[in-house]
Amino acid sequence: MTFRREETVWIPESDLDGMSVDTLAVRAGQIRTGQLEHSDAIFPTSSFVYGSAAQAAARFGGEEPGNIYSRFTNPTVQAFEGRIAAMEGGERAVATASGMSAILSTCMALLKSGDHVICSRGVFGTTNVLFQKYMARFGVETTFVSLTDMEEWQASIRSETRMLFIETPSNPLCEVADMEILGQLARDNDALFVVDNCFCTPVLQRPLEQGADIVIHSATKYLDGQGRCVGGVVVGSGKMMEEVYGFLRSAGPTMSPFNAWVFQKGLETLPIRMRAHCDNALELALWLEQQPAVERVFYAGLQSHPQHELAKKQQTGFGGVLSFQLKGAREEAWRFIDGTRMISITANLGDVKTTITHPATTTHGRLSPEDKARAGITENLVRISVGIEAVEDLKTDLERGFQALRNESTDNV
Ligand SMILES: Cc1ncc(COP(=O)(O)O)c(C=O)c1O
Repeated sequence: MTFRREETVWIPESDLDGMSVDTLAVRAGQIRTGQLEHSDAIFPTSSFVYGSAAQAAARFGGEEPGNIYSRFTNPTVQAFEGRIAAMEGGERAVATASGMSAILSTCMALLKSGDHVICSRGVFGTTNVLFQKYMARFGVETTFVSLTDMEEWQASIRSETRMLFIETPSNPLCEVADMEILGQLARDNDALFVVDNCFCTPVLQRPLEQGADIVIHSATKYLDGQGRCVGGVVVGSGKMMEEVYGFLRSAGPTMSPFNAWVFQKGLETLPIRMRAHCDNALELALWLEQQPAVERVFYAGLQSHPQHELAKKQQTGFGGVLSFQLKGAREEAWRFIDGTRMISITANLGDVKTTITHPATTTHGRLSPEDKARAGITENLVRISVGIEAVEDLKTDLERGFQALRNESTDNV
């Protein structure tokens, strides 16, 4: 037996009006085929068939809605898009092959040669490279500024400025930007305000409600949550997303249906995972602050964090990523990392498994020494993406790292 598109049942969004992000994570955007499956179906097909040549023409001509070809229309991908759009409070989402292609698609769709971008210095290293090396080749110049210095943002505005781009909290130093102020600055200057919401997810922060025009995600991180797939998504108004969708249709950095299904399932547990990540990260941050080998801990949940109050205002939790400087340099950071036995040494973040990395030689390794210094990526910095294991076991494993540092200093006596 076969089923036509007409027999699929979309769960009406209106039934979910006013419901919380926890409910939207589980219910929004679901489609159900004529088989009436309870879980979400996957549509792993590259193309779709038509009842007649006239119907094919109507679909291609845009006179009849419906699927055409999975580079730009696939029901599983649309289901994921519908869910994340609802969770972020945006009109529409466009899923992409990776977080980087979400950023690239946004820039290609909404900027043109001669435009100017202002980007915070503390963004993910590859985002910095994308703007600095590749967008520059197409005539889009970027000025990098401190995430938290509003005067520097204001001073960098030019008549050609068309986009302000930030991550908040930032990777890896957990700096927090004032989205209300930056949103106003963007509106005053006819520019778009784009927020990479990878670290908080819509469970902890909804930038569209706080002044942003566009939200970007690396779905690879918390949206999946179990380190299985690479993907990204852009969320915003229907008008702007039509432009991003148009670029995706022509250029093809598309999310696969299988990955969309994994992300769709990942979203269902996102709220409870985020709360567990936040609880563990806060406890570890407080514990790390007391360790004699630690120079400084960066986590917005700490009273000592310069934007602690702002984070409390903008976010409903402080997130699962923290970083800290050890007393010493690269050697100490590497010895500490190598001393752990359970925590995974990997640059990915947002996984239920705790991961540890040395930003200066991994995620931010492609930055010039000057850019690293300006972004605060020091050689003694270690980043932890705190998972959902028992926090006491995480302390036991990190204690092995501290022990490795102590062993080395006694060996040297
Ligand atoms: C904050 C942030 N944005 C974007 C990206 C890029 O995402 P992807 O690796 O899915 O391309 C990353 C990757 O680590 C990231 O940490």
